[in-house]
Amino acid sequence: MSTAISPTAYNYKVVRQFAIMTVVWGILGMGLGVFIASQLVWPELNFGLPWTTFGRLRPLHTNLVIFAFGGCALFATSYYVVQRTCQTRLISDSMAAFHFWGWQAVIVGAIVTLPLGYTTTKEYAELEWPLAILLAIVWVTYGAVFFGTIVKRKTKHIYVGNWFYGAFIVVTAMLHIVNHASLPVSFFKSYSAYAGATDAMIQWWYGHNAVGFFLTTGFLGMMYYFVPKQAERPIYSYRLSIVHFWALITLYIWAGPHHLHYTALPDWAQSLGMAMSIILLAPSWGGMINGMMTLSGAWHKLRTDPILRFLVVSLAFYGMSTFEGPMMAIKTVNSLSHYTDWTIGHVHAGALGWVAMISIGAIYHMIPKLFGRPQMHSTGLINTHFWLATIGTVLYIASMWVNGITQGLMWRAINDDGTLTYSFVEALQASHPGFIVRALGGAFFASGMLFMAYNVFRTVRASNPAEAEAAAQIAVVGAH
Ligand code: HEM
Ligand code: HEM
Repeated sequence: MSTAISPTAYNYKVVRQFAIMTVVWGILGMGLGVFIASQLVWPELNFGLPWTTFGRLRPLHTNLVIFAFGGCALFATSYYVVQRTCQTRLISDSMAAFHFWGWQAVIVGAIVTLPLGYTTTKEYAELEWPLAILLAIVWVTYGAVFFGTIVKRKTKHIYVGNWFYGAFIVVTAMLHIVNHASLPVSFFKSYSAYAGATDAMIQWWYGHNAVGFFLTTGFLGMMYYFVPKQAERPIYSYRLSIVHFWALITLYIWAGPHHLHYTALPDWAQSLGMAMSIILLAPSWGGMINGMMTLSGAWHKLRTDPILRFLVVSLAFYGMSTFEGPMMAIKTVNSLSHYTDWTIGHVHAGALGWVAMISIGAIYHMIPKLFGRPQMHSTGLINTHFWLATIGTVLYIASMWVNGITQGLMWRAINDDGTLTYSFVEALQASHPGFIVRALGGAFFASGMLFMAYNVFRTVRASNPAEAEAAAQIAVVGAH
């Protein structure tokens, strides 16, 4: 199809910045993951210092991988997708720049404050109020740029990927603001506005929807753009994508109580959370099937295209973790899995297999286009990265399944006289081999990111400014 060049260009600068930072934060966040995984194997690595203990570095790991790595991947791709599918430039370069620098400032704030021990103690919402307020301002700016760009679009239609990104932006803002309602008592300490079981419910309404909207809905937006693009096939069913969207966002919001089974939360709320989680399997798999079937007639491309492999295998892990999740939400299953490494395995099936793999595939797709190159510097290195990531993920989750079920069974084993068969330390000793395999799997995954960094560096270095500028021209005629 012929492509006329318009005088205006997309804002690729902010996309490039977020894309590069995805790789940087990915290496740091996953490197820290390997470090804390090693601490569980060799406790000496806590170094006897408060700042380097597992308890302080663990939340730093989750903040770096979810908000720094995952966040930057979502921002880079959403700004890329919204401009290309709306065939228009972002509404404001300065607001986009504020979004980029503001977000990096929040992350640096996390790197400083979490090891120092400043925390709200709410998981995935640990940042104390000054940083939480900055985050809210940056987020609202992001929403304004994204939705403003949609409003000034040149196309009639709003591509479905943007619906998913839009829901991710709106719901994350709502969750963050409601869950962070608190009373500051000093510059570094605040207390939640809620108390007791209500506080726990709000926290896991937030926590589960952080999974649902941050770690899932946004990445589904990515899936709806990059899978068809890389496979060079239209999305399998546009109708299914609409049903998928409404069903997913309607159901996710009710599933939070499955994090609070057998607690002080009213029993009916736990059962409601369980039922909604089981129903959630349907839209999750609907989405996965829509992505997978997009490859109809293009499966042979998997033989030669490692970027497509990243995208397709991410969907397979998405399908797997969204089957496992509803099973774990069943109260009787949860009575075994809760508090064990099974949960950690489930988390990383989603986090490494789905979130990280789809992000990596999308970044490999974008980088040459952003820097005016025909392709990445080395396809062979992408392939090496793919295998390191896949093997790493499998080692991680398989070892955590074994550990989780072992722990669950050992904790509940009871002698005839009603005493516990095993002490906690015996269960910990039984987990040691699994911890070693997990650290190894993590090291595989993280080393793949180093190959990525080198490959990205060589691709960027080979670009020349004129080519990069030409790449940013808005294609008035032609596909997105
Ligand atoms: C249909 C979809 C899903 C359902 C119903 C589901 C359900 C569950 C359940 C029952 C737990 C264990 C709660 C506990 O015992 O404490 C859990 C934990 C978790 N899941 Fe999922 N899951 C789903 C998909 C995913 C995906 C795709 C991801 C990641 C991308 C994910 C990330 C997590 C995280 C981070 C936790 C740990 C939360 C914590 O305790 O800190 N889940 N999920
Ligand atoms: C090289 C890769 C990684 C390694 C080695 C790793 C390792 C770890 C370890 C050791 C923990 C603590 C487990 C425990 O408390 O027993 C953890 C927790 C966690 N990690 Fe990772 N991680 C990696 C990548 C990621 C990525 C890419 C994400 C998200 C996109 C992620 C999200 C999480 C979350 C949400 C938790 C908390 C789980 C919970 O509370 O249930 N991790 N990780």
